[in-house]
Amino acid sequence: MADVFILGIESSCDETAAAVVRSGEHMESNVVLSQFAIHQPYGGVVPELASREHLRGIVPVVRRALEEARQSYESIDAIAVTQGPGLAGALLVGVTYAKALAFSLQKPLIAVNHLEGHIHAVLLEERQRGHRDFDFPVLALVVSGGHTHLYLAEQKTKAGGWEYTNVGRTRDDAAGEAYDKVAKLLGLGYPGGPIIDRLARHGDPHAVKFTAAQIKGKDRNTPEDADRPFFAFSFSGIKTAVLRYVEINDMRKNCDERQRGLAHIQKPTVEDVLAQCDRKTLDLIASFQRAVVEDLVGKTLKAAEHFHAATLFVTGGVAANSELRARFEQQAAQRGLQAYFPSRPLSTDNAAMIAAAAYPKFLAKDFADPEFSAEAGLALR
Ligand code: KG4
Ligand code: ZN
Repeated sequence: MADVFILGIESSCDETAAAVVRSGEHMESNVVLSQFAIHQPYGGVVPELASREHLRGIVPVVRRALEEARQSYESIDAIAVTQGPGLAGALLVGVTYAKALAFSLQKPLIAVNHLEGHIHAVLLEERQRGHRDFDFPVLALVVSGGHTHLYLAEQKTKAGGWEYTNVGRTRDDAAGEAYDKVAKLLGLGYPGGPIIDRLARHGDPHAVKFTAAQIKGKDRNTPEDADRPFFAFSFSGIKTAVLRYVEINDMRKNCDERQRGLAHIQKPTVEDVLAQCDRKTLDLIASFQRAVVEDLVGKTLKAAEHFHAATLFVTGGVAANSELRARFEQQAAQRGLQAYFPSRPLSTDNAAMIAAAAYPKFLAKDFADPEFSAEAGLALR
């Protein structure tokens, strides 16, 4: 079969991204324009600003992705775009642009679920290494700033299409959101995940005891999950517990000073941040990370056992976390389970995963209806 070049476009949150992937398994280009500096002063993503930045970035980002892949608008075979879930205004920029491009070029357009994209980030890199056959069912933990979901995946088509059952999710905050909120509270800047990951190595992870109740998802099923076991996560309690710890231990002033101190530095390094952290703060950070990681690993492995999963995927921004990776690798291996992660650049939002997820749909001629629109709350099935 001839090579198929798919241009992927992603704009669901705060990254404007475009990539060209050949036949679902060769990344020809992967361009990501991060809006990090725009949102940083606010300690989180500001939806209005995200849409505006996508609008500014999308044309040059797509152009660069084509150039780096030595492709042109005319030479690509199809255009894939993230339909949802994500921020409505941000998604609309990508969807509208992709629709216009597909219409003017008379090329097929493929709508991709962002969460399926994260799963295909793993598949893309494994296929790139020549590894194409996975044992099913696959249990996938998609864990990012917006999502903490467990999906049980089975192969649907020979061409590589999968179908998904949602067997777990967070009842409140996503794990990455907890990282970002705790980082903001401690005056560490945005996004919180990468810096907490690096600071946690310098603290005692057993210093602060978070109780199981503070991180426990209520084992209460919603009507749609009533007929099957469901693995619930909850990360808003631990954020409140960190806040309480800060207040009880009189650390508030210290956090504010750290935030002001770091605000003066353009791109603070880990050393800059470390210089602003006392032992108590580092111990709190390490203990927070340990509690979150243990909970994610523990529940995912319980679900894997329950559903007799043969393979484990861990993907999304938080999958970049070093402790999470190490623990998954170690504990999954003890159970005879193979765990797969994307490389760090493909863990966080990108468009290569969108173009890769579109390939089985291209083969199945599963093209988007011209009337389709962005869906902020799109579910994965
Ligand atoms: O997948 P992603 O780029 O966007 C969403 O779809 O949400 O994930 C971003 C999230 C942020 O919350 C960020 O703090 C978190 O992933 N993150 C990490 C790490 N790197 C990024 N969390 C923990 N450890 C990391 N190393
Ligand atoms: Zn994402």
